[in-house]
Amino acid sequence: MPQVTGEVRKQIEKRRTFAIISHPDAGKTTLTEKFLLYGGAINQAGSVKGKATARHAVSDWMEIEKERGISVTSSVLQFNYGGYCINILDTPGHQDFSEDTYRTLMAADSAVMVIDASKGVEAQTRKLFKVCTMRHIPIFTFINKMDREAMDTFELLDDIESELGIATCPVNWPIGSGKEFRGVYDREKREVELFSDTRKGTIQGEVKKVPLGSSELDGLISDEQRARLEEEIELQDGAGAQFDQELVSRGELSPVFFGSALTNFGVETFLRNFLAMTTPPLPRMSDRGLIDPMEEEAFSAFVFKIQANMNKAHRDRIAFMRICSGSFEAGMDVYHMQGGKKVRLSQPQQMMASERHMVQEAYGGDIIGVFDPGIFSIGDTLTTAAEKFCYEGIPTFAPEHFARVRQVDTMKRKQFIKGVNQIAQEGAIQIFQELNAGMEEIIVGVVGVLQFDVLKFRLENEYNVEIRMDNLPYEYIRWIENTDIDVSKLSGTSDMKKVMDLKGRPLLLFVNEWSIRMTQERNDGLVLAEFAR
Ligand code: G4P
Repeated sequence: MPQVTGEVRKQIEKRRTFAIISHPDAGKTTLTEKFLLYGGAINQAGSVKGKATARHAVSDWMEIEKERGISVTSSVLQFNYGGYCINILDTPGHQDFSEDTYRTLMAADSAVMVIDASKGVEAQTRKLFKVCTMRHIPIFTFINKMDREAMDTFELLDDIESELGIATCPVNWPIGSGKEFRGVYDREKREVELFSDTRKGTIQGEVKKVPLGSSELDGLISDEQRARLEEEIELQDGAGAQFDQELVSRGELSPVFFGSALTNFGVETFLRNFLAMTTPPLPRMSDRGLIDPMEEEAFSAFVFKIQANMNKAHRDRIAFMRICSGSFEAGMDVYHMQGGKKVRLSQPQQMMASERHMVQEAYGGDIIGVFDPGIFSIGDTLTTAAEKFCYEGIPTFAPEHFARVRQVDTMKRKQFIKGVNQIAQEGAIQIFQELNAGMEEIIVGVVGVLQFDVLKFRLENEYNVEIRMDNLPYEYIRWIENTDIDVSKLSGTSDMKKVMDLKGRPLLLFVNEWSIRMTQERNDGLVLAEFAR
């Protein structure tokens, strides 16, 4: 295979593109902000946070965002640090959790999982983690808030291993927590990094490092803490998994770091180690086989997110794409595979810290947002390769909330159907129909409940259609993978619903997991899938 050389290769090799996953309040925003401080992208703590202030300056494209003080769509932050060019993909949390959150993970080469040390693995982390493991990308763990009372270290590691099914390898080990937090022990260097609260500085001050055996530690950590540390380390060395870069790269072993994002302790150690252990842009599967950015010179990218109506007056859309190979220049012509024609990528944008700006060039690993006149769909491929190819599609993620939706004014039927279909095409909602029924009534499924509000708002504002929505009790959806099955004859539980998606694929809605098991027991050979491929 020919190798990509020169400037393009150099640029791609220094790219690190990752997503941060966590349960709300674990400290993702605080950690991101500290990363940006190291990258010099912001010079004041608090610039990212601004849930109620700063963000609006750049993303006031939707009333709903302003009203609620949240960002409905995720953004990308780029900065440089230690010779790397870093792209952080933000995965929104709280109630603005949506399918976009999942799709963003499809554009990342690795994930950083932030866990609150007093809580262990929480619901949202579990969901996002599933998508990471599906892709076998490396996962790094930052156990945050060590300056507060934390769970026992072994318990935390056990929790990750048993809840998420991934082996862990602590790179450092905490000494105490809360008021007793004294720092972390670096297992490889065999020295203690002493905790100091450096939150006031813009970057971490000089962290004092002392070898474990040194008498310098006397008085800094108590005899009891030292004895406990030695005991724990001995236990961990004997029974825990050893660091293995190969397993880390395959997403089978998660290196674990302890720290406190708020007080800025352990953040730079984490960033430095993480960047060295994670990967440059990874090869991606296409219908022509794996496309490796180090071998494919041509530009190629896939669309993973479409953000509608950023400017209401123009009704325009921005398609966010992940560049997988080659380089990009503003205004270049590329071939849109699904559309079957050449398109010019105009008005390319990138997010730098919290400001949107135009980009002139970008490389494999980067994310750009381009103006979309309504031709792109989630999963589309764009390329300049002479030998064309399509990247593997993005799976449809299982919605968890369902509602029956109908228009109030039956005269507005056409607009209703048009609006609902367009919004579904953008990937903000999924729509279903009852088997053998028309579009009189539709069932809308969403990953995050906020999408219901977005749907209502957009139908009213953009399509002038008022709707009524009745929540349905279903929480689980399963696509039927058997092609030779007569769905009408399936016997399920009484609270199960048979529907089909936009592509006519049959699926089942369930109220609880028990019903799924019962239905499988009653129908021998039935194959159900959580994702539609
Ligand atoms: P998120 O993005 O994951 O939702 O979490 P975020 O960073 O917003 O942090 C949630 C809360 O936890 C914030 O407090 C934040 O200051 C705090 N926090 C984050 N990291 C640490 C840490 O290492 N130690 C301690 N003690 N607290 C931490 P808040 O009171 O909700 O917000 P704010 O008023 O501080 O902004």
